Amino acid sequence: KKVVLAYSGGLDTSIILKWLQTTYRCEVVTFTADLGQGEELGPARDKALLLGIKPENIFIEDLREEFVRDFVFPMFRANALYEGVYLLGTSIARPLIAKRLIEIAEKVGADAVSHGATGKGNDQVRFELTAYALKPDIAVIAPWREWDLRSREQLIAFAEQHQIPIAKNKRGEAPFSVDANLLHASSEGRVLEDPNEEVPDYVFSRTISPEEAPDKPTVITIGFEKGDAVSIDGQKLSPATLLAKLNDLGRDNGIGRLDLVENRFVGMKSRGMYETPGGTILHVAHRAIESITLDRGAAHLKDEIMPKYAELIYNGFWYSPEREMLQALIDKSQEFVAGEVRLKLYKGGVHVIGRSSPYSLYDQDLVTFEEGAVAYDHRDAAGFIKLNALRLRTLGQRKKKLGL
Ligand code: ARG
Ligand code: SIN
Repeated sequence: KKVVLAYSGGLDTSIILKWLQTTYRCEVVTFTADLGQGEELGPARDKALLLGIKPENIFIEDLREEFVRDFVFPMFRANALYEGVYLLGTSIARPLIAKRLIEIAEKVGADAVSHGATGKGNDQVRFELTAYALKPDIAVIAPWREWDLRSREQLIAFAEQHQIPIAKNKRGEAPFSVDANLLHASSEGRVLEDPNEEVPDYVFSRTISPEEAPDKPTVITIGFEKGDAVSIDGQKLSPATLLAKLNDLGRDNGIGRLDLVENRFVGMKSRGMYETPGGTILHVAHRAIESITLDRGAAHLKDEIMPKYAELIYNGFWYSPEREMLQALIDKSQEFVAGEVRLKLYKGGVHVIGRSSPYSLYDQDLVTFEEGAVAYDHRDAAGFIKLNALRLRTLGQRKKKLGL
């Protein structure tokens, strides 16, 4: 029996590691991914070794470029937002982690995978839907749903009993739960559970507050090709480097904080605090480049399917035929989404101040109030309005006749 565990190196997954060894008596393989969470991965290796994992059973990988190129960017082509505002920073990372878990399971001949998501949240669903989609016969072990460690005290006691090192600040009640990657940092639970209590300052890790941001705006230019950002201020950058740079710019200008009560897939409402500095800038910039390069019909159709697409990602259906169908539609729309967007970043705000494209559909000749444009005759508008008004007039007449 062999199991591949999604291992962060933190206290919870270290306890899970020990629990798998002692309860299931199986050989544990650990997988730790660098998704840009901003933590050294060396300690995760040391800790795995300390907990008795064989060196050849420790997998540590830098997935930052793949994460942004194959998951974040395709999602941003859709302008995806869950419930109108959430940029899906956690949701989009889970399918990648689960995909690598499965690939490693295949490689080492494991029959199970395991993760540290609780039995109350979205992440368990995302991990497991992906795992089953990619390897239908895999077994999934979700310790949080199985063990009888019910309180923080019991977890700590279990850790002490098995000589698992505990960081000092983890002894007491952890003040909130964090998930972080290159796209965002999210905080939930404990001190954040009352949705009427303002989020305390110490929760923020990715942004300074808008009040503390400089009084002088920062102006940047983002270049796009086929719907993806490719440069900042004329400098070509790889997907992960580009997002990291936008994160720095966003952090320094207090951009991308979101305090949200959302509906989890499992049915409950939860309150979260999100920081998505670079993603917030990218979202605004992408809509701006689309505004001049997308036809109205294409743009509006995209907007109609967007909530559905976002919900699929939120609910864990990245590897589903319907998400792939929508992705094909979205990708097709991005053919001519290229050019440059100029933005002003100022005290938490992202303001578009210019956009240009070799494929622009914006026709100054057509729109100008000055004389010009042969393709547009003012007089045609009269008939256009009359025919569109026909039904409204008929309805108006009936209303009048009935005295309503
Ligand atoms: N509510 C967010 C989502 O479902 C984040 C979940 C993980 N975050 C955390 N702090 N544990 O995508
Ligand atoms: C968890 O329950 O493990 C984190 C929150 C979530 O998945 O929604």
